[in-house]
Amino acid sequence: PLVSMKEMLITAKEKSYGVGQFNLNNLEFTQAILQAAEEEKSPVILGVSEGAARYMGGFKAVVAMVKGLMEEYGTTVPVAIHLDHGSSFEKCVEAIHAGFTSVMIDGSHYPLEENIALTKKVVEVAHTLGVSVEAELGRIGGQEDDLIVDDADAAYAIPSECDQLIRETNVDCFAPALGSVHGPYKGEPNLGFDRMEEISTLTDVPLVLHGGTGIPTKDIKKAISFGTAKINVNTENQITSAAAVRKALEEDPNMVDPRKYLGPAREAIKQTVIGKMREFGSSNQA
Ligand code: G3H
Ligand code: ZN
Repeated sequence: PLVSMKEMLITAKEKSYGVGQFNLNNLEFTQAILQAAEEEKSPVILGVSEGAARYMGGFKAVVAMVKGLMEEYGTTVPVAIHLDHGSSFEKCVEAIHAGFTSVMIDGSHYPLEENIALTKKVVEVAHTLGVSVEAELGRIGGQEDDLIVDDADAAYAIPSECDQLIRETNVDCFAPALGSVHGPYKGEPNLGFDRMEEISTLTDVPLVLHGGTGIPTKDIKKAISFGTAKINVNTENQITSAAAVRKALEEDPNMVDPRKYLGPAREAIKQTVIGKMREFGSSNQA
């Protein structure tokens, strides 16, 4: 069934595993992720950025596609449709009205008080409708769609500010920027585990790790042990699916049927997602 992230993440934190947020880019991504979740008996979060929603035809088109596939597949595992890095109150409300069960309001580029005020406003609307909310503090580096943060602007979240934002806004989960990056890492990631541990002692709210692509398993385990219950992955599925398309087209230069090159891409995404669900420990938890 379609659900918010709230219960999913509370349970994940209690039982010490992570639920993956896998971003949608098109039909094949959606099919692959839903199939992987059902096969693995894993809860799953479908992440939709504003740019990806635009590409797929808008929030309503995304919700209709997800609902249609879940019905055809007979999906039994919990699925959340989550707005990833929502840029404004208006965009969050638009997604909620279209049927999203969860939204992120990314006010991380605003001063603390403004971020809190904005997040609070989104929570008020969302919670009346049973929709969960994620907030962010600090700035996650790298690029995702329209969201570009230079190295110099990437900033680590401050634990006391995180505590204040969580208490004043009543968010359901919280993403402290602690050195993770959108897209591939330059060298080994260097995550701020000291601060993550500190934040986890200040709050019961499940934490979110963005930039999941390229984080070694030992760091994933460590993050989960410090209260991380949601891990976002996008680029890795883009890398494996692009490689599958390239291979199929190179092997047969006459190939034109999209089903013949996007089918292997879908399979590559499915296998990648299955691997992540096992790594995060969410398999057989639904
Ligand atoms: O919000 C989405 C994620 O943080 C994805 O990060 O593309 O580096 O896996 P990634
Ligand atoms: Zn992100």
